[in-house]
Amino acid sequence: MPGKKIIITIDGWSSCGKSTLAKRLAKELGYVYVDSGAMYRAITLYFIRNNVDIENKTEINEALRNINLEFVVNSGAQRSEMFLNGENVEYLIRDLLIAEKVSDVAAIREVREFAVAQQQKMGKKKGIVMDGRDIGTVVFPKAELKIFMTADNTVRVERRFKELYAKNPNITIEEVKNNLEMRDYIDSHREISPLRKAGDALELDNTHLTEDQQFRKALEWAQLRKKK
Ligand code: DC
Repeated sequence: MPGKKIIITIDGWSSCGKSTLAKRLAKELGYVYVDSGAMYRAITLYFIRNNVDIENKTEINEALRNINLEFVVNSGAQRSEMFLNGENVEYLIRDLLIAEKVSDVAAIREVREFAVAQQQKMGKKKGIVMDGRDIGTVVFPKAELKIFMTADNTVRVERRFKELYAKNPNITIEEVKNNLEMRDYIDSHREISPLRKAGDALELDNTHLTEDQQFRKALEWAQLRKKK
């Protein structure tokens, strides 16, 4: 598609379908897709494995110095996967064990500074779609297109349950619901960069929209912004 290269940010609550939309948009536009949540998840995995005390700043800083995050393209699967210190952790970081801890880790100032600096570097050349919680408000406050996604709680719980159940049939809907509610609460109430809709973000409530409908809407917005 002709037009200038832009930055597209997609923020919103957990399990709203942000990454599905972001990936499809990036593919259509020939842009890079960055899942910023994967970075916080990989940091959380490192903290768990190394028993990092999240109340101890010295331990946190020491741990961050030893963390190298990289997105590596898996051409077979046509997606990029999260690597932590050279190890592919894409599958491990989707576990509920990580989801239970990630919001607390992502609320730590040093962790956010570490992740945001890398995210901003990735956007230097534009032509990027990044999803998360603070991408339109903090990471790229000047992004040309900002989307804020929402969906009804029940719909979100069902979507996430289906996803996790496929990997772990022992999981209960209650566990998934509690985890989503807890993460939404922590993510939107933390002191640093809480989840909120940027003043200039366009809202996309997908409770009653198919993936195709969401994609077409977002693509229409992107085309308009690319022309400006
Ligand atoms: O998008 P996700 O569910 O994979 O994100 C995992 C957690 O990381 C989420 O609960 C909050 C945090 N996160 C964040 O604080 N800021 C971001 N830009 C992305 C994710």
